[in-house]
Amino acid sequence: MGNKLGAAPWLAIAVCGLGGSCTSKPGLGFGAGLDVPYVQTAAPVVRAMLELAQVKQGEMVIDLGCGDGRMAIAAATDFGARSIGYDLDPERVAESRENARQAGVSDRAHFQVKDVLAADISQANVVVMFLIPLLIETLTPRLLSELGEGTRVVSHSFPIRTWTPERQIVVGGRTLYLYRVPKRVPLRLR
Ligand SMILES: C[S@@+](CC[C@H](N)C(=O)[O-])C[C@H]1O[C@@H](n2cnc3c(N)ncnc32)[C@H](O)[C@@H]1O
Repeated sequence: MGNKLGAAPWLAIAVCGLGGSCTSKPGLGFGAGLDVPYVQTAAPVVRAMLELAQVKQGEMVIDLGCGDGRMAIAAATDFGARSIGYDLDPERVAESRENARQAGVSDRAHFQVKDVLAADISQANVVVMFLIPLLIETLTPRLLSELGEGTRVVSHSFPIRTWTPERQIVVGGRTLYLYRVPKRVPLRLR
């Protein structure tokens, strides 16, 4: 325990068991407010997520729980997008900034130490994430209320439980879910 969602440590094991290298550190992962352990997405899966979202040049891609920044950086280097990555772990954010610098995209891929539940997502054309179900569930009302109509959301491994995916593909053994934020229907009171 120790994270604000009250997620049990077995969740970390479940996520790590999904593959990739789990580098969650004792004393930090689930111990310092993190809701998800650090598990890296393999490069072909990163590419498939951005292709699934059909990221276009100049679009804004927001990476929730960015790790070492690989999704946000690939969006900038391979798709000509602008990107922002948020992570609660300052070490991950420092690493992301250094990786963006090395990739030559520091001007277009930015990173902030921020809880995904408090991050500004309103400018996103595309949201990418590899989070656990409990955090996705807590985040879902914000996705609906703060993202513009038509914003694409791609989730690695875990679906948004209450939304219907527009597409669902399997790449490298990982299921990727594509969603599109629906038009907001104003509530009419009689
Ligand atoms: C499963 S890893 C994914 C990393 C990267 N997106 C990737 O796919 O390679 C989840 C990331 O979320 C971060 N994280 C955990 N809880 C968070 C929270 N509440 N707000 C922001 N980031 C969080 C962790 O530090 C970790 O880097």
